[in-house]
Amino acid sequence: MTNGELRIVSLTGVLAALVSLSSCTKCPKFDLPAGPTPLELLIPPFFPPMDIPAHNPLTEEGVALGRLLFWEKTLSLDSSMSCGSCHLPENSFADPNQFSTGVTGALGGRNAMAIVNTGWARDYFWDGRAPTLEDQARDPVPHPDEMNLAWEVAEQRIAANPLYPPLMLAAFGSEEVSQDRIVMAIAQFMRTMVSSNSRFDQWRRGELELTAEEFLGYELFNREGGDPEQVTGGEFGADCFHCHSEAGLQFSDYLPHNNGLDSVFSDFGVGAVTLNPLDHGKFKTPTLRNVELTAPYMHDGRFTTLEEVVDHYNSGGLPSETIDPFMKYTTGGLMLPDVHKAALISFLKTLTDTAFGSTAEFSDPHE
Ligand code: HEC
Ligand code: HEC
Repeated sequence: MTNGELRIVSLTGVLAALVSLSSCTKCPKFDLPAGPTPLELLIPPFFPPMDIPAHNPLTEEGVALGRLLFWEKTLSLDSSMSCGSCHLPENSFADPNQFSTGVTGALGGRNAMAIVNTGWARDYFWDGRAPTLEDQARDPVPHPDEMNLAWEVAEQRIAANPLYPPLMLAAFGSEEVSQDRIVMAIAQFMRTMVSSNSRFDQWRRGELELTAEEFLGYELFNREGGDPEQVTGGEFGADCFHCHSEAGLQFSDYLPHNNGLDSVFSDFGVGAVTLNPLDHGKFKTPTLRNVELTAPYMHDGRFTTLEEVVDHYNSGGLPSETIDPFMKYTTGGLMLPDVHKAALISFLKTLTDTAFGSTAEFSDPHE
């Protein structure tokens, strides 16, 4: 059954119930339990609709519960660490450290990603191993390099905390605490973490003009690379748009690509999940929203500045069997002059939404 059909069926059910209620004049009055309040997420201008799973619609109560759980330190073995310990608001909910330190003191092997407009993303983590945000949120709690707490213990702790069972009742209809409900609430909260007030957004809405340098950077971003004398269609551009597509306004196609970081892989990325050698060295294309705030860059945080990132692309990257066909300038590079590299970085900085991290609704509610 498709979602559409499901909606029609449930609507028919509701209508039937309403009809039978209204046709019954002498029925005893009874109070229907008040369900959670549906939350209508405001989709910013020009953004595509958000794909929200039918089994976990956004509700006021679910989001409020998710916020508490996102910031809940008892979800880690020694109760020292919440999701927000690695995903820092001032860094667009990324970790400014190359690798995050888990509760055991162990360093993870990848850089913690930003959480921004993740409701529009899919295939979460650098290797795309979690198809939905609900699946994603299952991972950090038991992860030995992260919160390192068995889910059964996590459930017991949340159930024993007098704060939570009533909130489970309000959000999901009964006081039962389960792993599923915990990840559903956290996923609901993360879907509300919407950023749409960067200079780029303001420009799109016609509220301001980009500077000449920013606009040049925007054009370069969306232009084919290469010298037209040597490559058909070359426009001396920066060739970023193929993978960091502007189409859905998140500056990512969210697909796995190998952007030429290595010739020999120490982390197989998507290839380690699919076990397909053709995926070796491929990683999910990250959003570039708030990229100014999310250093260090790449799955292993190898670059500390945007200048280093742009130099990487300008050099063309390192060849390998799985390098992406869009990384087509491994010989010679993009050949961007310094003024164009600077313009590209100015454009990337227009994607910064300075207010996002300090949004009151996303802050730690336990404080
Ligand atoms: C110890 C640090 C740490 C903690 C605690 C942590 N994360 Fe992460 N998070 C990471 C790292 C590292 C990655 C990237 C891991 C990878 O790709 O394999 C990540 C990735 C993510 C992503 C993927 C974003 C994307 O665009 O694909 C989301 C969402 C996320 N974390 C949410 C959470 C939530 C929710 C919690 C709490 C339940 C949490 N994180 C706890 C470090 C952490
Ligand atoms: C072939 C597809 C592709 C092209 C073309 C491409 N990127 Fe990327 N980009 C990726 C992938 C994949 C990653 C993640 C790679 C990894 O970590 O292993 C990435 C990562 C990044 C990051 C790091 C973001 C973070 O959160 O760590 C930045 C910044 C970036 N790209 C900017 C650019 C710019 C600017 C251009 C154009 C000059 C560009 N990209 C062209 C696919 C691409």
